[in-house]
Amino acid sequence: MPDAERVLVIIPAAGSGTRFGGDVPKQFLPLGGKPLVQRVVERFLFDAVVTRVVVPVLDMLLNAVKESPGERVKFVVGGATRLQSVAAGLAAAGDEFDLVAVHDAVRPFFSPDTFHATLDAARTHGAAFPGIPLPDTIHEIRDDAIAATPDRSVFVAAQTPQCFRIEVLRDILTRAAREDANATDEAGLAAKYGHRVQLVPGDSMNFKITRPEDLVMAERIYAEWGGGEEP
Ligand code: CTP
Ligand code: MG
Repeated sequence: MPDAERVLVIIPAAGSGTRFGGDVPKQFLPLGGKPLVQRVVERFLFDAVVTRVVVPVLDMLLNAVKESPGERVKFVVGGATRLQSVAAGLAAAGDEFDLVAVHDAVRPFFSPDTFHATLDAARTHGAAFPGIPLPDTIHEIRDDAIAATPDRSVFVAAQTPQCFRIEVLRDILTRAAREDANATDEAGLAAKYGHRVQLVPGDSMNFKITRPEDLVMAERIYAEWGGGEEP
């Protein structure tokens, strides 16, 4: 790891959690007594490789969180789409970074080893993401019936942290804004714009809390194993 390398982590937390439902956006619900987003921020702050953490949040929640963090963390207003939230985070962070990691606020069990491996791959290739093989067979459906069964072995499910050399992330976000393009992750966007996006092995513990049953599962895992290294 080069000495002066500066690593920015953007944790988009400005979603409204429509699939999860409820009054409070899922990223502010507690896991082991602390809001999910706080658990994720603290896990990154515990890592000496991280220079700065920027967290785009919903406008209405900015005041609630602004006061709490130390100088390595900054909360900013996110956007209407995930890409706009990430772009807001990057704009607020400034340019003085070499590598940027983007991590969902709702993946509390990411592994520091995977994070470091993904950063390493991004340093070498420009962009990288953790992915895992699909456990289930995938069918393409038309008229409620199977139309085709693609070869499952060529697919992975994308996780985060997804890592980029800062110029790659800036390039893809600028182009997406210009074209009004949308994407559910930055890795796919980078590939769409012609960048090589290196696959790094992810792991099934790094699941995303999408629906209420995912949080029930996360609470059980947390109670049994804790969150890994506690800050
Ligand atoms: N996100 C964001 N800004 C948005 C939309 C999503 O920062 N405009 C963030 C979410 O807060 C979450 C991450 O992107 O940390 C992953 O998104 P997802 O799990 O899809 O969360 P939501 O978009 O909130 O949920 P849903 O798609 O069910 O509405
Ligand atoms: Mg979403």
